[in-house]
Amino acid sequence: MPDDSVHLTFTSPPYYNARDYSTYQSYDEYLDFLTEIFTEVHRVTDDGRFLVVNTSPVIVPRAGRQHESHRYAIPFDLHPRLTASGWRFIDDIIWKKPDGAAKPRNSGFNVHRQPMTYKANAVTEYVMVYRKQSHRLIDWNLRQYSKDQRDASRVPDGYEPTNVWELDPAHDRVHSAVFPSSLCERVVQYYSMIGDLVLDPFAGSGTLGVAAQRLNRDFLMIEQNEQYVQRMQQRLGRVMQSQARMQLDHKHGHD
Ligand SMILES: C[S@@+](CC[C@H](N)C(=O)[O-])C[C@H]1O[C@@H](n2cnc3c(N)ncnc32)[C@H](O)[C@@H]1O
Repeated sequence: MPDDSVHLTFTSPPYYNARDYSTYQSYDEYLDFLTEIFTEVHRVTDDGRFLVVNTSPVIVPRAGRQHESHRYAIPFDLHPRLTASGWRFIDDIIWKKPDGAAKPRNSGFNVHRQPMTYKANAVTEYVMVYRKQSHRLIDWNLRQYSKDQRDASRVPDGYEPTNVWELDPAHDRVHSAVFPSSLCERVVQYYSMIGDLVLDPFAGSGTLGVAAQRLNRDFLMIEQNEQYVQRMQQRLGRVMQSQARMQLDHKHGHD
């Protein structure tokens, strides 16, 4: 991919070995891999544009009763690596899910109530916002667009003013860890302009592409699993068809 060609990246990288033990030899190897990817994302990102990364701490379950499970603080360990590779920290947004969405971790504690054994049910994930280090202000980025483009890209009323975004999780019949569409739509609307190119290097079922298509942005998605690629093609095909139908209805309405 050419340098400086992407306007926004929004992605949720794999959760270390939480789903598959064999993928990475060690946590450091995993962090090195993500660092390599986000350094490359930095190269292809245009001056002063944004990277938004959704991660959360994960638990790798214990191997047996004699062992402890291990919890890895991915957003905090990734953060210094991102800032070292030229990403300037902008915001930490908390995605809060309803209480019932959490995997229960305190059923033992609930019975014996012993201090130090307390474990919080995790109902949040991090949505970390970074900007490609630039000596130019965001006003300069906005001035690269015409007044019409800026007007068309205005974020509508009802936007979220705080850094706590309360959104329900989403489920997909093929992929086990998908973005909610509402999360993608917010990020695309708040951090890119109409006509921009948005990237997801770990695209899964393609939720970012679906949001980009609905919001008139171009998209580029990368995914290693063939089954997920088929799923994203299916989902995108459906959105494009319904948009074509709407355009046709609109045209007939005018005829
Ligand atoms: C957490 S999921 C992303 C889900 C996505 N946000 C969605 O809405 O469906 C991470 C994805 O990264 C993919 N992945 C992991 N390693 C990869 C690699 N080296 N290259 C491309 N994709 C990879 C996995 O197959 C998985 O689908």
